[in-house]
Amino acid sequence: MKLRLAEAEDVAHINKLIVRSIEALHLEHYHSDEVASAVRLAYGVDWQLVRDRTYYVAEVDRIVVGAGGWSYRHTISGGHGPDEAASPSLDPASEACRIRAFYVDPDYARSGIGSLLLVQCEDAAREASFARVELTSTLQAVPFYLRHGYAIMGPMELPFDEGFMLRVQLMEKLL
Ligand SMILES: CC(C)(COP(=O)(O)OP(=O)(O)OC[C@H]1O[C@@H](n2cnc3c(N)ncnc32)[C@H](O)[C@@H]1OP(=O)(O)O)[C@@H](O)C(=O)NCCC(=O)NCCS
Repeated sequence: MKLRLAEAEDVAHINKLIVRSIEALHLEHYHSDEVASAVRLAYGVDWQLVRDRTYYVAEVDRIVVGAGGWSYRHTISGGHGPDEAASPSLDPASEACRIRAFYVDPDYARSGIGSLLLVQCEDAAREASFARVELTSTLQAVPFYLRHGYAIMGPMELPFDEGFMLRVQLMEKLL
């Protein structure tokens, strides 16, 4: 297994991985219509993370089987097209950075890939002088983040187009 920074050429493959990951892993925690709406409206690689060099992929035999990133920008969730303006930067002295867009291929779930990506992101955020991290976790991923020392701050609903709301938990960790 190898971790490396995501490149623009990876985005099409990661988008397919995201759909497979959501469809396979979310049905236990969301209604099937929520999963369908999430796939249609909410997800897709955030191009800003790729541009900022803060998005990583995990490869097995040169196939990307997982992706995850962190961000020094305000945006905390959702996709972000290639032509959208960048959201403002956060101040490491007073603000929390973000953990963003973690997805593992369902065929490789529970084999430590998400954990490797998370440690890589936390190390990079520390190097950038952040002392705290916040994220919005899908209901399915809450045990994963709890296992890594994150605390639940409270439930949230993320609004998307067409009035669709995704139920998530806001979580935080001191780095
Ligand atoms: C959340 C996710 C990225 C975790 O990736 P992963 O590679 O399977 O996680 P790991 O194998 O590193 O898990 C580490 C530990 O976290 C906990 N954990 C992970 N997934 C869990 C689950 N579904 N249920 C309970 N605990 C879980 C366990 O303690 C696990 O250790 P164990 O397998 O030895 O018991 C993956 O399940 C995923 O892609 N989910 C769908 C997309 C998603 O919702 N992403 C989060 C966006 S915020």
